Amino acid sequence: MKVITNRKYGPPEVLRLEEWETPIPKENEIRVKIINTTVNSGDWRVRKPDPNIARLYFGLFKPRSVVLGLSFAGLVDTVGTKVSTFQVGDRVVGSTGMKMGTYAEYTCIPETGIVTKLPKEISFAEGAGISFGGFTALDFIQKCNVQTNQSILIYGASSSVGSAAIQLAKHFGAHVTTVCSKGNIPLMKSLGADEPLDYDQYFSTNHTKEYDIVFECVGKTEIQNNLKHLKKGGNLVLVGASFRQMWQALWISIFKRIKIHFGPIKESIENLNFLLTLATLGKIKVNIDKVYPLEEMAEAHRYVEAGHKKGNVVIQVEKTK
Ligand SMILES: NC(=O)c1ccc[n+]([C@@H]2O[C@H](COP(=O)([O-])OP(=O)(O)OC[C@H]3O[C@@H](n4cnc5c(N)ncnc54)[C@H](OP(=O)(O)O)[C@@H]3O)[C@@H](O)[C@H]2O)c1
Repeated sequence: MKVITNRKYGPPEVLRLEEWETPIPKENEIRVKIINTTVNSGDWRVRKPDPNIARLYFGLFKPRSVVLGLSFAGLVDTVGTKVSTFQVGDRVVGSTGMKMGTYAEYTCIPETGIVTKLPKEISFAEGAGISFGGFTALDFIQKCNVQTNQSILIYGASSSVGSAAIQLAKHFGAHVTTVCSKGNIPLMKSLGADEPLDYDQYFSTNHTKEYDIVFECVGKTEIQNNLKHLKKGGNLVLVGASFRQMWQALWISIFKRIKIHFGPIKESIENLNFLLTLATLGKIKVNIDKVYPLEEMAEAHRYVEAGHKKGNVVIQVEKTK
């Protein structure tokens, strides 16, 4: 099978096309013929790595896992002898999490892993795009317990996480203000934002409004600036917090008794099914910015690393008939 490897850390050029043996599923696993995967912010961060301290987890001198990619959508191609919930030919969607390995034509995953059937109303590309931003936004929205009529400010709202957060916050009944570049305002409106602001409007001294929840998606603002816009007793979310911000947030939350949420999220099959149900009902849509063939992975990484994608970048591994 075709695989894109990263045998060393570095720029997008370290990504190489190789031919590997097709994996054989264990008795409790299914093998998925991948139609689509995605390139996410996490992928280029692991490739570099960024921050450098990530080497302690991913491999000190070179990557331990040489195939990146977590999200996938495709067709069940083979099932292990003990598999009972999936059949050959099922349309499926899922995430391999920290195991990664979806920049490939096939992946094997336990039937009890983060994998479920992909409803026929959702395309493979949308299926692959739903999990990264969707899981992250939903996990933090659940931690804040977003309620009807609460106000939420989403900063970096055109990101993968942000575009999902807008729609999930609307689903839970919140009034949504978004912040992104001017050019992305029409996208914000199409995703349901009530008050889309551009950066100038947000940072203007005239903008003094306070919100129940400040949801910083991209780790690009100072915590003090977010706190200026947070109501007393509100929730601050720092999705893309750096280590420095995490320490800062810890101290602030202890000494000022402010609810600050940050750190890695948990992926669950319940949340994946919830996201798929909302997508099937047309309550959330997966914004697909660009689609690249597997062979153009380096180009896709360059684009995503530049930091201005709108929603999701999808990789076409296999053409659908
Ligand atoms: N905690 C967790 O478990 C977890 C999970 C997933 C992701 N993350 C983190 O969450 C962050 C977002 O991930 P993502 O994949 O959603 O990002 P992404 O899609 O790659 O983000 C791209 C977006 O960032 C916006 N952006 C760039 N510079 C900006 C700035 N200075 N101010 C505001 N927006 C800016 C761009 O909007 P414009 O073009 O309009 O500027 C663009 O739409 C990353 O830091 C990632 O590491 C954390």
